[in-house]
Amino acid sequence: MSNPSHLSRRRFLQASAAAAVVRPWSGLRAAEPVAIFPLRAAPAIASIVGGEYPDTAVWAYGGIVPGPEIRVRQGQPLQVAFDNRLDEATTVHWHGMRLPNAMDGVPELTQPPVPAGGRFTYEFTPPDAGTYWYHPHVRASSQQGRGLYGALIIEEAEPPKVDRELLWVLDDWRLTETAEIAGFGGGMDFSHGGRIGNTVTVNGRRPDDVAVQAGERIRLRLINTANARTFGLRFKDVEMRVIALDGHPVTLHTPVDNRLTLASGQRADLIIDMAAKPGHAAVVSDDHYGDRYAYDLLAFTHQPGPALRDSPLDAAMKLPDNPVKEPDLNDAQAARVTIDGGAMGNMRDAVYKGQSMGVRELWSHGKIWTLNGIAADRPDMSPIVTLPQGRSCRMTIRNDTGWPHPMHLHGLAFRVLSRGGVPEPYRPWTDTVLLAPNKTAEIAFVADNPGDWLFHCHILEHHAAGMSSVVRVS
Ligand code: C2O
Ligand code: CU
Repeated sequence: MSNPSHLSRRRFLQASAAAAVVRPWSGLRAAEPVAIFPLRAAPAIASIVGGEYPDTAVWAYGGIVPGPEIRVRQGQPLQVAFDNRLDEATTVHWHGMRLPNAMDGVPELTQPPVPAGGRFTYEFTPPDAGTYWYHPHVRASSQQGRGLYGALIIEEAEPPKVDRELLWVLDDWRLTETAEIAGFGGGMDFSHGGRIGNTVTVNGRRPDDVAVQAGERIRLRLINTANARTFGLRFKDVEMRVIALDGHPVTLHTPVDNRLTLASGQRADLIIDMAAKPGHAAVVSDDHYGDRYAYDLLAFTHQPGPALRDSPLDAAMKLPDNPVKEPDLNDAQAARVTIDGGAMGNMRDAVYKGQSMGVRELWSHGKIWTLNGIAADRPDMSPIVTLPQGRSCRMTIRNDTGWPHPMHLHGLAFRVLSRGGVPEPYRPWTDTVLLAPNKTAEIAFVADNPGDWLFHCHILEHHAAGMSSVVRVS
C-alpha cells in the first residue's frame, strides 16, 4: 500500500467502533458541529511484522494499530466516548492539546482511572491546529508499548496547498522471533535508555516504499509513538522543509543535513517536494544511533513516466500561527528543574514518598530517576513550580544524567529558548524538548491554562521509574 494516509483512512472506516458522527451543537453560540467519536480500547490481533511472520497479540483502540485517526477542524468541539475493554484500568491522554485540565487523562491527578469495563467521555475544543496524538497514561510503558496510540489531527482553516497528505505514525516494538511482544519490566529499560525495540513500524506495520510522482508535493505528518526510541530521519534526494513541530507552526526551514530528530512524543509536519528523477528511489534513513545502527526506513519511489511538474509547486507553505500567548521574558517567574539518577550516574540519595533514602533502597521500589531530588510515586504530588494564572515562566532544566531525556509538559505550549547553552534555532513552540546528557535547556511559556499539569520524561520507562512532577497553574 503506497499511501499510508489512505490506508489508515480505509482501516478507520472499516473499524466498527470508529465511525464518526457529526451532530449539531445544542448550544446557541458555537457555530461548529460537535464531532463525536466512539473509542474502544481492547486486546486485538494485528499483522505487525507481516510476510511469513504470525500476527501479533496487541492492545488497540478500535481494533487497529494505530488506533482510528481522530480528525477535526481547529475550533471544532470534540467528544470522544471512551470504552475500556482492557482487563485493567486506563485513561486517554491527548498529547500536546491545550485543553481543560479535567480532560487531560492523567490518573489520580486529573481523573480517576477508567476501570476495566468502564467508560469516560472526553470533551474539548482544540484551540490549535496541528498534529497531535492520543495514548494511555496508566502503566504507559506496557499499555502504549502494546499498541495503544493514535493520531489526533486538527485541521487548519486554510491548509497549505499540496498534492497529497501522508501520515506516518512511527513506532518501535520489541518482538520475539515469533512476532510476540516481549515481556515488560526489564530493569535495564528503566535505568538505562528505556525500552528500545527491534522492529520499527510505520502506521503499525513494517514500512513499504511510497510511490510518488516526480514533482509531487506532499505534506507529511510524523508522530513518534515509540516508548523510548528517538528517530533521526534523513531525507535524501528530495526537498524537505519543516513547517510545524509538535503541532505548532515553525519558521520554514530545512534542518542541518536534511535530518529531522524526533524524540518520543514529538511530531513534525513536513512539506516535501519530490525532486528526484522519474524512476529514482529517494531513501529515508535513520542514523540517530550512529552508523552502526543506521537503517533505511523506506524510499519514495519516483514513478517512471513524465513528472507531475518541472519546477516545485508555486504555492505558499506557511501555516497560520496558533493562538499561543507570547511569554514576557522580562517579567517571568524563574523555575529550575534538575534531572538526576539513572545507571552510571552520580546520584547518592533521593526522596521517595517523603522519605530520604539511598539509591539502592530507591531501586528496590522500582525508582531510579528524580526531578529536583524527588522520585515521583504518584501523579498528585507537590508541584515543582506554582504559577499564578497568566504569569510567564522561564524554566531552566538541567540534565545531570548520562542519558538523553525528552521532557514533556501537559496542557501548555512552551518555546524552547536554548539547549546546551546554544540559542535554539527558530525558538519553536513545542510540548516536548529533548535534553542531551549533561546539558541544560531553557524553555518559556505563559501559565494561562489553570490546573495541575504533569511534567515528565516521555521515555515511558523513565517516567515509570520516578521522572515526573507537576506544574501548578492556580
Ligand atoms: Cu504523551 Cu504525559 O504524555
Ligand atoms: Cu528520560
